Amino acid sequence: MKRVFLETYGCQMNVADSETMAGVLEAAGMTLTERPEDADAILLNTCAIREHAEQRVLGRLGEFARLKRHRPGLVVGAAGCMAQHLRKRLLDHSAVLDLVVGPDGYRDLPELLRRAAGEPVAHVRLDRDETYGDLEPRRGPGVRAWITVQRGCDKFCTYCVVPYTRGRERSLPLETLIEQVRRAVASGYREVVFLGQTVNSYHDGAHDFADLLRATDGVEGLLRIRYTSPHPSDMSDRVIAAMAECEKVMPQVHLPLQSASDPVLSAMDRTYTLEEYTNVVRRLRAAIPGIALSTDIIVGFPGESAEDFERTASFMREVRYDSAFLFKYSARPDTKAWRWTETVTEEAKGERLTRLIDQQQRISGEIHDGLVGSEVEVLVEGRARRDAGQLFGKSAHFKTVVFADDGTPPGALRRLRVVGSTPLTLFGASLARSAPPLVRITSA
Ligand code: 5AD
Ligand code: SF4
Repeated sequence: MKRVFLETYGCQMNVADSETMAGVLEAAGMTLTERPEDADAILLNTCAIREHAEQRVLGRLGEFARLKRHRPGLVVGAAGCMAQHLRKRLLDHSAVLDLVVGPDGYRDLPELLRRAAGEPVAHVRLDRDETYGDLEPRRGPGVRAWITVQRGCDKFCTYCVVPYTRGRERSLPLETLIEQVRRAVASGYREVVFLGQTVNSYHDGAHDFADLLRATDGVEGLLRIRYTSPHPSDMSDRVIAAMAECEKVMPQVHLPLQSASDPVLSAMDRTYTLEEYTNVVRRLRAAIPGIALSTDIIVGFPGESAEDFERTASFMREVRYDSAFLFKYSARPDTKAWRWTETVTEEAKGERLTRLIDQQQRISGEIHDGLVGSEVEVLVEGRARRDAGQLFGKSAHFKTVVFADDGTPPGALRRLRVVGSTPLTLFGASLARSAPPLVRITSA
């Protein structure tokens, strides 16, 4: 067992987990390959958040089944949330799978892969203490390092499978995280993104999330700090003050709303009312003027009436989010809402989703148009995907800005004037140089 092909689905947490897996595999003398055809083992890091995510993985497994027909020794494994969610069922029902490993089993990955070459193997024990804090991830290219500060979730929103697939919430010690940040900076990363299912409920027993932001702000060589996703109920004054006062913490936050109707929020067990959420937005905007806000919305939750939906649509127009991830409700086995009768037809969900997409696109477009003429500072990431003659970077507000290649290296900050926009992208140009000062300098 030498070469492993690793493919990642789902959220940033999974991307970070794949980097941990890559680190574990390489430490055991295995190498990662770019192409499944070259691999001795194929590992899919899967997602279970919506049914569609699982269907994509099942489709991909079908492709690997064909590959395996020609190479019977090939080991195929499923890791991550879908593996944990379906457990042995996945092993029993898929002719192609040799290994099923949940989010707390990655430490043993090399050994599990070797065993799976002989017989089907499942490692789906959740572990209240596993944080992988001592493992060195193999980070991907780029200027941004993902750092998991907390694993699991204790919130149990009634629609969500995550508490069942990732287990109970646990935080890594602040000292361990600061060390990880330092190492990332030493390897050339300039921005860190702290990850957690409810990242602002971080607590290591002695320090909270505000302490973590403040300690990270002091790391030399680091330029920017972001985090995702916070829970509105955990957005304490301490966290908001730390955001406002720490120079490196960027003025941007993703604040999942899910619905703007109190009866729906209550049925979702979100633990806040619309008024409480609105207060969080007000406090954030007062402390950090101009802060960019984005959100997650679910349409078609059981019981969501036409009025409930209109409330969400109008609230989104009031807040004017910079961007939003919009989802159709997908019933997930194991969750509380799984047993509830669905009241919104697939067609109505589709209509509600399309309306919110159109509305959000208009708002994002207007916000971006309003930025034309302003100055932004971007952290340069590299060449633009669509045009090799252009570079791109992110602004402080996490907007993608594309500009003509002027030789600025990745990882450097560059000030630009915004000269054009679409709902997804800003276009920047070099700032016109100001005239030289009209002062004659005479030497004594
Ligand atoms: N159906 C649809 N969307 C969901 N999300 C979580 N569970 C479900 C589900 N069962 C969405 C929420 C969450 C985001 C990560 O995914 O909006 O914030
Ligand atoms: Fe799921 Fe709610 Fe936890 Fe987010 S806070 S991971 S939506 S249970």
